[in-house]
Amino acid sequence: IAKIRTHHLQQAKAHGERFAMLTAYEQYTAEIFDQAGIEVLLVGDSASNNVFGNETSLPVTVDELLPLCRAVARSAKRALVVADLPFGSYEVSPQQAVATGVRFLKEGLAHAVKIEGGKFYAETVRAMVQAGIPVMAHIGFTPQSEHSLGGYRVQGRGDDAQRLIDDAVALAEAGAFSVLMEMVPAETAAAVDAAVTVPTIGIGAGNVTTGQVLVWQDMAGLRGGKMAKFVKQYADLRATLSDAAKAYGDDVRSGHFPGPEHSF
Ligand code: KIV
Ligand code: NA
Repeated sequence: IAKIRTHHLQQAKAHGERFAMLTAYEQYTAEIFDQAGIEVLLVGDSASNNVFGNETSLPVTVDELLPLCRAVARSAKRALVVADLPFGSYEVSPQQAVATGVRFLKEGLAHAVKIEGGKFYAETVRAMVQAGIPVMAHIGFTPQSEHSLGGYRVQGRGDDAQRLIDDAVALAEAGAFSVLMEMVPAETAAAVDAAVTVPTIGIGAGNVTTGQVLVWQDMAGLRGGKMAKFVKQYADLRATLSDAAKAYGDDVRSGHFPGPEHSF
């Protein structure tokens, strides 16, 4: 099977086709999603609040994400593996971003990295691309900036749409191979998509972007609690696993497991 490369995603946009992206943080989900044909796997800093038990994406570190990234990259045979640069690992300077990006490609075996932020980061993107690190830009609602954005809020409404268009154009011109938009009105996302030739990817950004992304535990119903409006659940893994654990516990306590067929 031919590996998905960044130029395949560019072709998808040029040909009016679409692609799918999911987060993955370890071996089995990476294998399953890869074999299911998901084109892009994101080792998101969402591991912070979906793997490591934090409340937000802010606390996760490079040293925590690297081994997850390595596991996903080893397990996926076809998908493009993109790693998030966590909060604090790229903002200081283009040099810091290049150094962290190199670690994700060298130690994490990632194929590309993603950074959050608008046109201010164009110079950073240019330096990373120059160093051989493909960069996906993430604009709109950027969870690492939750505290400066005043919580989870839709970005790019009304007159604010032009800001996102300017961000996307600057980042694409700097060499970003795609632009991801989070929590942006569908109309704004369409305008952003029309303004750049690189593929756009949406999460809560309507239905005109070339790609869509979801956190896998949301997509498959593993996480409990309230889901964001942009999530569609395609399974109820939380109930399935809970039922399995209860049945196993009951069988152990009642002496029904292990049976003779499980014994030596
Ligand atoms: O970390 C993440 O999971 C993400 C996507 C949801 C876009 O950045
Ligand atoms: Na992220």
